[in-house]
Amino acid sequence: MAHPDAGLHHVAIVMDGNGRWASKRFLPRIAGHKQGVDTLKRIVRACAQRKIAVLTVFAFSSENWSRPEDEVSGLMDLLAGALAREVSQLKQDGVRLHFVGDRSGLSERVQAGLARAELETADNRLLTLNVCFNYGGRWEIAHAAAQLAQRGVPITVDSLSQAMALSASDPDLLIRTGGEFRLSNFLLWQSAYTELYFSPALWPDFDDQALDQAIAEYHARERRFGKTSAQLTPSNVSPS
Ligand code: IPE
Ligand code: IPE
Ligand code: MG
Repeated sequence: MAHPDAGLHHVAIVMDGNGRWASKRFLPRIAGHKQGVDTLKRIVRACAQRKIAVLTVFAFSSENWSRPEDEVSGLMDLLAGALAREVSQLKQDGVRLHFVGDRSGLSERVQAGLARAELETADNRLLTLNVCFNYGGRWEIAHAAAQLAQRGVPITVDSLSQAMALSASDPDLLIRTGGEFRLSNFLLWQSAYTELYFSPALWPDFDDQALDQAIAEYHARERRFGKTSAQLTPSNVSPS
């Protein structure tokens, strides 16, 4: 039974399976990544239509630097191109872009593109799209702790939460496409109480219907946050 307060505010997605999608078609892996950008555009629109306020996607992990050089440079070009092409549309659509990750490891061209996209969409309020790029959960936690230590702030759960690169809200639902059952260093801190959903669909094949399936499954779950089921039943909620 769905809990009456099981609102869906923040969805996170590990967009996995682009390479396999391309290999199945005898195409280079980068063709799968290009198709993946189209899927992301559709899913951003679908999330906005479904009144989801925050979408956080994993686009490039700190571990993805270990891939062949041509794939890495292809992914950098794809990001730079997508930023140049899509920002005006996102601006019109009310999407606010925010990048989460270690920018210092990126080229100046990419860094400038990210900063411009953030600035141009800063006033948008319909949907916040967090793009995790050169991101790793362990990096984020270590970086937050180092910042607090440098400022002499005591390290507590609250101070660390606030110092995270992604700090405004934790995901309610985390979807991983591509059939793998792991987090691969994504949102380690923020997913402590997130509902996890694994889709066998390769990311380029993930569509509105697959999103709706994940959302339906989310609403069928009971988020207990350590309490008992009986504590959550409406009869135990005192009328205000
Ligand atoms: C996810 O797709 C995108 C990135 C990691 C950049 P993959 O490229 O990992 O696709 P598979 O898992 O090899 O199919
Ligand atoms: C996770 O996918 C990273 C992104 C989707 C950006 P990977 O394909 O890199 O994960 P592993 O290597 O299978 O764990
Ligand atoms: Mg993969």
